[in-house]
Amino acid sequence: MSSEPAIAVSDLSVEYPARGPSASCVALRGVSFRLEQGQVLGVLGETGSGKSTLAQVLAGRVLPPRASEPGPRISGGEASVLGHRLRKAKKRDLAEVTFHVGYLPQEAAATLEPSLSVQDNVALPIFERDEHYPRRAAGERAATMLDTVHLPLSVLNKYPYELSSGQRQRVALARALVLGPSILVADEPTAGIDATVRDAVIDLLSQLREHKDFTAVVVSHDLAVLRRATDVSLVLQAGRPVGYGPIEDVLADPAHPFVAGLARALKPPQRRTERRPQRAAARPRPKENG
Ligand SMILES: Nc1ncnc2c1ncn2[C@@H]1O[C@H](COP(=O)(O)OP(=O)(O)OP(=O)(O)O)[C@@H](O)[C@H]1O
Ligand SMILES: [Mg+2]
Repeated sequence: MSSEPAIAVSDLSVEYPARGPSASCVALRGVSFRLEQGQVLGVLGETGSGKSTLAQVLAGRVLPPRASEPGPRISGGEASVLGHRLRKAKKRDLAEVTFHVGYLPQEAAATLEPSLSVQDNVALPIFERDEHYPRRAAGERAATMLDTVHLPLSVLNKYPYELSSGQRQRVALARALVLGPSILVADEPTAGIDATVRDAVIDLLSQLREHKDFTAVVVSHDLAVLRRATDVSLVLQAGRPVGYGPIEDVLADPAHPFVAGLARALKPPQRRTERRPQRAAARPRPKENG
């Protein structure tokens, strides 16, 4: 029985080469994990720990070793996505990967094209692949995607500046899903949006997760996201893996100060209240990334 994992990462190192006055930077080192189809991986860690770099690589936004453009490249180990090995991948393989992996970049709302309507933003990946794709069919697809992210069709003809940050985030999510990807890579999907919309985005992710073949990598330090929308989580610290497992296990056994800090910042919802009567306002409950 050897069904292929959606993602297999083995001893992966990724670096940004030196450019001008800035030295090269090893953003990931010695990262290994396997993600089966139908699983959702959470990725957390402090700022600069390599989360977005990992997200970019897995979304196929990685450069060949000798490319001259700036960007991440694999300097050790291997990452395979849907059977494509990325380390020595040719452009064609990477195009396959970017086709099958939907990517919601960090601060995605800001990556919408300001001069395009919502409909054209959502349909953009279609026309980037095939500029002759029938406009009407693309429009219908965009409308379906808006429905998927629970936005009213009335926003189709609006422009990004006319939307709230939460609506823009959902438009970006619709764009990430428009090609019907096999894997979604979402980098901080709930950062920078207000609390009510954040709940809507988390609901959406957990609804997507109900489909048994939904596979995703979700970078987040939002515990509600990690709890409700992931099966297993990877903790990074300065590019190295320092924790791996279901989020409650990771938090219960903090092998690293970063995780310990995170674990302290929350109250396990049930156990504490079982043990002792609740004291009013014992300690304010820290906000989970509202
Ligand atoms: N384009 C780039 N060129 C050079 N170095 C980079 C580039 N992007 C990121 N880095 C470096 O790679 C390391 C990892 O950055 P990355 O953006 O992956 O971290 P992160 O965990 O996503 O951080 P954050 O929580 O702030 O989003 C950092 O040291 C960063 O300075
Ligand atoms: Mg990041």
